[in-house]
Formats: sequence, structure tokens, C-alpha cells
Amino acid sequence: MSAKTPATDAALINASLELAAERGGDLTEAIYARLFRERPEFEPLFVMDTNGAVRGEMLARAFDTLFDFIGERAYAHHMISAEASNHDAYNVPRTSFSRFFAIISETVRDACGADWSAETAAAWRNMLADLDRFVGA
Ligand code: HEM
Repeated sequence: MSAKTPATDAALINASLELAAERGGDLTEAIYARLFRERPEFEPLFVMDTNGAVRGEMLARAFDTLFDFIGERAYAHHMISAEASNHDAYNVPRTSFSRFFAIISETVRDACGADWSAETAAAWRNMLADLDRFVGA
């Protein structure tokens, strides 16, 4: 098993998430808007989710996974592998599954505006590349 996210990277990622929440409030709408803009074919997968509860829950689980992945990594790597595989049943390709985390980072970047530094970008980029290894092909 590989090394965990370096503490300096984890701190930068956490700070960007905090700032994004301060500036942008609840990012749920922006994240799904970005996803469906990029991949409109995924929108109908949530057609039964009339009140947004499923989308909210999925994003909450993705955030929990992200926080554990950059922290203790008690379960996140297993969760990522398991959910990537579960999502085969929804016809979500592995690359799209990974993209969901990248879409979170891009939404956070937009919310941070000028305070999104090159160091923060690099921290996210490295973490996402590391995370990708657990998604599988
Ligand atoms: C483009 C990427 C993704 C798409 C299109 C997608 C789509 C879906 C869909 C259609 C469902 C079923 C909703 C229902 O019950 O009607 C679902 C459930 C779920 N998704 Fe995602 N998902 C994506 C990425 C992720 C990621 C990155 C995570 C990370 C943890 C995640 C976690 C979950 C969980 C926990 C559930 C509920 C349990 C399950 O069915 O496994 N999803 N997702």
C-alpha cells in the first residue's frame, strides 16, 4: 500500500474546501451542473431523484471518502474501489467515476477564485492521480 496524502497537500486541500464552502456555500448544485454539462447522458440516471436526496447523499459520501482519503485513509481506498465497481451497474465508466472527484476540485477552484494557488492546484492534482489508482480500469 502506498503512502498517504502528504500532510502539506492535505492541509492545502482542506483549506481550499473550507474557503469554497465559505464563499460558495453548498456546492451541490454547482457540482452536478458541471457534471451534467460535461456528461449530459448521466442526468437521466437520477430521474427518480425528484427531490435531490440521492444526489445529495452521493456527494456527501464522495466528500466523506475524500476527507478520509487525504487523512487517516481508514477506508477511503476500499470505498473507492468498491463504489467504482458498483457503478458499473449504472453504466458509469471508471474514467467518469474518477472525473467526479476532479469535477469537485474544479468547482472548488472556481469558488476559491484568486485564492486558488499553484500549490493548491498541485496538491489536488497529485491527490487525484493517487486516488485514480484505486478506481481501476
Ligand atoms: C460521474 C460519476 C458518477 C455517476 C454518474 C454516479 C451515478 C450514480 C447513480 C445513478 C446512483 C444510483 C442512484 C439511485 O439509487 O437511484 C449512484 C449511487 C451512489 N453513488 Fe454514484 N455516481 C458517480 C460517482 C460517484 C462517486 C465518485 C462516488 C464516491 C463515493 C459515488 C458514490 C455513490 C454512492 C455511495 C451511491 C449509493 C450506493 C450505491 O448505489 O453504491 N458515486 N451513483
